[in-house]
Amino acid sequence: MSITFATSHPDETRTLGRKLAALLTAGDVVVLSGRLGSGKTLFVSGIAEGLGIGARITSPTFLIAKSYVDGFLPLIHADVYRLGSVTEFDDLGLLDSGADGAVVIEWGEAVAEALPKDRLIVSFTMAGDERTIAFQPVGGWVERDLGVLA
Ligand SMILES: Nc1ncnc2c1ncn2[C@@H]1O[C@H](COP(=O)(O)OP(=O)(O)OP(=O)(O)O)[C@@H](O)[C@H]1O
Ligand SMILES: [Mg+2]
Repeated sequence: MSITFATSHPDETRTLGRKLAALLTAGDVVVLSGRLGSGKTLFVSGIAEGLGIGARITSPTFLIAKSYVDGFLPLIHADVYRLGSVTEFDDLGLLDSGADGAVVIEWGEAVAEALPKDRLIVSFTMAGDERTIAFQPVGGWVERDLGVLA
C-alpha cells in the first residue's frame, strides 16, 4: 500500500526526507523515481539533515555516488542516471559498501534488477504547479510504519 503526499513548496520535500530518515536502518535501500527536477536530490538533503549529516547534499550525477559517514547512520547517495548498464552498477559495489547504512538511489528503477527485493520506492511527480511524492513499500518495507511521514 502506498502513501502519497501533495507538496507545493521545496520545504515540504525536504521535510518528508527528514521524516523518512527516522525510519532508516542499516541495509536499507531507497529508490527515488521521477523526472529531472522533480525534487529527488532535495529529498536526499532532507534525509541527510534527519541523519545529522553536516555536509550540504549536492547532486552526485557525475560522480555516480557520494558517501556520508558523519551522521547517525552512514548514507550513500547515488544517481545512476548516467550509468550505462546494470552491470556497471553491480561493479560499483554500492550495496556492499553501503550495507552498514542506507543506500538512496536517484533513478534507481533503472537498476531494479540489481537491487534487493526489500526496498522503498519514492516517486516524485510534477504536473504544472502540482507535485506529489508517493512512498511505495516493497518486501520487508511493508512492515514499516510509514505513518510517521504524515
Ligand atoms: N515540493 C516542491 N515544490 C516546489 N518546488 C520543489 C519542490 N520540491 C523540489 N522543488 C524544487 O525542484 C528543483 C529541483 O530539485 P532537485 O534537484 O532535487 O531535482 P532532482 O529530481 O534531483 O533532479 P535530477 O533528476 O536532475 O537529479 C529545486 O529547485 C527544488 O527547490
Ligand atoms: Mg538529482
